[in-house]
Amino acid sequence: MEEKKSQLRVLELYSGIGGMHFALQKLNIDFKVVLAVDINPLANQIYNENFGKIAKHYDISTLTKEQLDALRCDLWTLSPSCQPYTRLGKQQGHADPRAAAFLHVLEILPTCSYKPKFIFIENVFGFETSWTAEKCREVLKASGYVFHEVLLSPFQIGIPNSRLRWYGLARLKRDEIENSWNPKLSFPDKAETIRPINNYLDKEVNMEKHSVPVDILQKYGHQLDIVKPSDTHSCCFTRGYTHLVQGSGSVLQMSDHEDIKKAFLENRYDLCLRYFTVREIARIMGFPEEFTWQASGASDKAMYRLLGNSINIHVVSALQKELLMN
Ligand SMILES: C[S@@+](CC[C@H](N)C(=O)[O-])C[C@H]1O[C@@H](n2cnc3c(N)ncnc32)[C@H](O)[C@@H]1O
Repeated sequence: MEEKKSQLRVLELYSGIGGMHFALQKLNIDFKVVLAVDINPLANQIYNENFGKIAKHYDISTLTKEQLDALRCDLWTLSPSCQPYTRLGKQQGHADPRAAAFLHVLEILPTCSYKPKFIFIENVFGFETSWTAEKCREVLKASGYVFHEVLLSPFQIGIPNSRLRWYGLARLKRDEIENSWNPKLSFPDKAETIRPINNYLDKEVNMEKHSVPVDILQKYGHQLDIVKPSDTHSCCFTRGYTHLVQGSGSVLQMSDHEDIKKAFLENRYDLCLRYFTVREIARIMGFPEEFTWQASGASDKAMYRLLGNSINIHVVSALQKELLMN
């Protein structure tokens, strides 16, 4: 079939379970993800279960200029490994071997004959002060891009979840004299209305499977971030959800009237506290109801890991709109 000239050709690097692809789908634009690249076979399987045979198993640090040129992509999306830059990690930055693939992309971008018109990058809060971020700014500037950076969390656009991330939006200069780009991002500092968590919950949940075990409550109950369905906030869900206690995501208190602190003091643990289901977290992160992983056979634990690594689709889509359409 003949390719339409106006169709945006996309290369999705570090594609995981396809957060960037889902975000683009929300924009109602004519696009085609030509290739998605990830080294995680399960993530690729789930990507392909949702989008067809697009995701391929490649180590990004082996991609060549020739391969990238041949793809002729107008948009590259990248969400490089965040472990080198996370607050809780060793913060080895560019010295961490997991940073190598992104540095490789930064090295070959200037040599490419077919440079993408747009580049969209996502990483953790803290990346922006790293040596890698500085390198990224330098390379993009030298390669003819204007670049805009923003820190944004889903609650700023009305979603009851915090996931503060750094986003880099780059676009090829329109002419030689264009030096900077300050898009007017139309996000309020704080959303006036945040939809309560109950909008994202499953109608029926197997409490036996999802209850927080009593031994966890006994040992770590006071460290849990406990929210109610009527609340308008929850903590960032990370890849450690359900097996790490602190800072890995909130748990839900289904009995609205119980005073949890008092109950812990009285050594009572029959509190109807449960973990969010995989689908509920996917919903909060903006994955559509059609998002599927069943054919891959992925366990809940594997899905929590993959979602913890993924992106908030609402936020990314809003930023992609600024990059591509304004
Ligand atoms: C932060 S996650 C990105 C998740 C993705 N945006 C999503 O929506 O699921 C980083 C991804 O990069 C992949 N990755 C890390 N190093 C890689 C490399 N050298 N080559 C290809 N993929 C890599 C990991 O397997 C992981 O899926």
